[in-house]
Amino acid sequence: MERTLSIIKPDGVSRGLAGEVIGRMERAGIRICAMKMVHLTLEQAKMFYAVHKERLFFDSVTQFMTSGPIIAMVLEAEDVIKKNRDLMGATNPKDALPGTIRKDFASDVEKNIVHGSDGPETAAQEIKFFFNDLEIQR
Ligand code: RTP
Ligand code: MG
Repeated sequence: MERTLSIIKPDGVSRGLAGEVIGRMERAGIRICAMKMVHLTLEQAKMFYAVHKERLFFDSVTQFMTSGPIIAMVLEAEDVIKKNRDLMGATNPKDALPGTIRKDFASDVEKNIVHGSDGPETAAQEIKFFFNDLEIQR
């Protein structure tokens, strides 16, 4: 079994899309083994997106990620990193396939509703960023 970190971003929460996103995950056979709502500080958002610190969009995306509460989740399933990325769709909703979360709901390349870890190492790091072992159901 593999695990990944998913985030419903501030736009997903404020637009009332949490249930829709979680429903898609559950219907895809993904198990949610941890969940919390948090409102990140700018410092925390910069830490979370540190891999992007040299990118032009760094200030903008970290501001966006602190603009309201988010829902962080640990997802579990076979091949869940890819499964979740497939449900999300491409970063830019213009490039996302029909039926993906981003195609169906995202307003632009930044406000794109969800985050998903992109590999086993980032998944492990990102899960640790939000959850300790006691908070993750076995
Ligand atoms: P994420 O990390 O949030 O799951 O998204 P991703 O892998 O599909 O995309 P990534 O390249 O890691 O970018 C992280 C987030 O930064 C914002 N972004 N803005 N303005 C832009 O050109 C731009 N590019 C990326 C998005 O919110 C993206 O999800
Ligand atoms: Mg990414």
